[in-house]
Amino acid sequence: MRLIIKNAHVMDPGHLDAVVDIYIDDEGKILRLEPPALEKAGRGPGELKRGPSGKEAIADRIIDASGYIVTPGLIDMHVHLREPGEEYKETIETGTRAAAAGGFTAVCCMPNTFPVNDNRQVTEYIVHKAAQCGSVRVYPVAAISRGLKGEALCDYGELKEAGAIALSDDGRPVVSAQLMRRALEYSRPMKLPVISHCEEIALSGGVMNEGPVATRLGLSGIPNAAESIMVMRDITLCELTGVPVHIAHVSARESVAAIREAKARGVPLTAETAPHYFSLTDEAVGAYRTHSKMYPPLRAFKDREAIRQGLADDTIDAIATDHAPHSVLEKDLEFDAAANGIIGLETSLGLGLRLVAEGVMTFAQLIEKMSIHPAQILGLPVGIRVGNPADITIIDPDASYVYRAANGFSKSRNTPFDGWEFKGRAKFTIVDGRVVFEV
Ligand code: DOR
Ligand code: ZN
Repeated sequence: MRLIIKNAHVMDPGHLDAVVDIYIDDEGKILRLEPPALEKAGRGPGELKRGPSGKEAIADRIIDASGYIVTPGLIDMHVHLREPGEEYKETIETGTRAAAAGGFTAVCCMPNTFPVNDNRQVTEYIVHKAAQCGSVRVYPVAAISRGLKGEALCDYGELKEAGAIALSDDGRPVVSAQLMRRALEYSRPMKLPVISHCEEIALSGGVMNEGPVATRLGLSGIPNAAESIMVMRDITLCELTGVPVHIAHVSARESVAAIREAKARGVPLTAETAPHYFSLTDEAVGAYRTHSKMYPPLRAFKDREAIRQGLADDTIDAIATDHAPHSVLEKDLEFDAAANGIIGLETSLGLGLRLVAEGVMTFAQLIEKMSIHPAQILGLPVGIRVGNPADITIIDPDASYVYRAANGFSKSRNTPFDGWEFKGRAKFTIVDGRVVFEV
């Protein structure tokens, strides 16, 4: 026995909400879930443990999870790990350490690396590097089009074989509706979900949300329509092809409305938002703070409310960080010139728990959006079930702390949440039955 998690209050939405002992075998798989065994004083790692089934087991380690909440491992389906090519911003090693600290047992890494992940060599490089030095599982998302140029499709069969789990040109839209249609059609037999970065570039020339704040600051604006037009196009292509589309980082209220309406008609669509869109508004740009600059931009209060409503009524299926590390070289600049993107792996769970505390959604919904739904969208094993790999997050719901980016695990510090107070954090992150983070 590799690990026993005793007295685990498992919250696996739609499946289990009970206190059990979790037995994890030497292969890192969940072997049994049993009612808690009777306590015997002085038991520690390596000692004999007799469960109610009468079977004896020697565990390498026993974790007492009393007082914590034990959930399926969190999955962040939208992360930029910057390797290969921009290792000064983040590496697979540092990014996955940040992920583990944030309670994530798996991340999907976007293909806008240097070189772009549009071929077998790059996908295999990421897979091998992650096996060598990754703290958590890394699932490469390969490009939809060669070089992210929107001109020619990549070889999806080759990418799938190399280990890609999904397709996206994230960072850029697929401008041509025809190419997007073909991408959906060719992705289907490969069983590679398509993740769409929705941006109409004819409208998205600004540097922050279009509105009174941009006017006051004298910055050029990006209207909500720059996103929602493309969301509507992709809904139409989803209907045309019958192939599911996953909409990335939804920020605008019109996008939420369009997705809600399409889902009601039965269009096989899924969507994610990022914690910053339900936590902040464009007011956070304040005094030209580049740590509040990302694409799509922080929107107005009405949009933030619509995003929250979309989470509450499950129009938005998933929460993903869009963790986008940049160094001071790209961020310590005048607002117009600064790069888009903020880090998010170490604040996502805390920001999600704030929404639960505010009554916007339930804890079960949060875990659905941070684990169950991403797993379903990506075709991964779902939940804390016997036979599944033991990817588990143990959350201390009462731990209060102040987040300091300077003490974070990411190589980069570009976050608007520096100094924020949180209640609730990952206490243990367990991948394949191994503790990869504990605090
Ligand atoms: O803010 C963003 N940063 N949005 C994107 O779409 C790309 C990302 C990045 O790669 O930095
Ligand atoms: Zn994007």
